[in-house]
Amino acid sequence: MEGTAAYPTDLERDVRALDGSIVHLRPIRRDDDARLVAFHSRLSSYSVYLRFFGFHPTLSEAEVRRFTHVDYRDRLAFVIVDADDRLRAVGRYDRLGGTDEAEVAFVVDDEVQHHGLGTLLLDDLTQAAWRCGITRFVAHTLAQNSSMLHVFWRSGFPVTTDFDAGTVRVQFPIEPVPSFRAALAERESTRRVPPAPARARRNG
Ligand SMILES: CC(C)(COP(=O)(O)OP(=O)(O)OC[C@H]1O[C@@H](n2cnc3c(N)ncnc32)[C@H](O)[C@@H]1OP(=O)(O)O)[C@@H](O)C(=O)NCCC(=O)NCCS
Repeated sequence: MEGTAAYPTDLERDVRALDGSIVHLRPIRRDDDARLVAFHSRLSSYSVYLRFFGFHPTLSEAEVRRFTHVDYRDRLAFVIVDADDRLRAVGRYDRLGGTDEAEVAFVVDDEVQHHGLGTLLLDDLTQAAWRCGITRFVAHTLAQNSSMLHVFWRSGFPVTTDFDAGTVRVQFPIEPVPSFRAALAERESTRRVPPAPARARRNG
């Protein structure tokens, strides 16, 4: 299935981040391997620790392959790239074998954390997953990771958290209920950018 998966160009879009910069969000591609390795090497050890729950300075070849080879249905990752084509954030879901649940994970470049990128990734992942028959997201995060927890709590979904010995299991149904739609509409109002040709005319 993975070998034949068509690249979903309809999921690509330009978005304004909270700092005003315009970034490009798109599904990950197989040729993102070098960009992903460079991105990981730029992360602070604390961000890596929060993402991988330990010391993990480099990604193995197997990890790079697994992270960049997705089928866009049961496994999907979005990347956010900047104007220099540098990867600045990754968010992914992986369906939990044969169920309608998927586990999600995120990591954002330290320099651009708190610019709304984690929230953007979650918004687009939930909508893409829902269209693929996934009904619930699950995440595991460290209890100290207030940024991650705030992203989930502010999402508009009815989020449940179970704290256990320093970690938190977060779960929520991703059906686009009115509270999510309202929160999303507010977020999207600040994200919208003019179509690329109009931007080019104005900048040129
Ligand atoms: C956790 C992480 C993914 C969050 O990504 P982010 O891009 O920094 O998140 P956002 O900018 O969307 O949200 C961060 C903050 O902005 C706030 N925010 C987001 N969108 C907003 C908006 N439209 N208006 C106002 N505030 C907003 C959030 O509530 C959150 O508040 P906080 O700083 O009080 O916690 C990121 O910090 C990271 O990569 N950390 C290291 C790795 C990690 O922890 N991964 C998670 C493992 S599961």
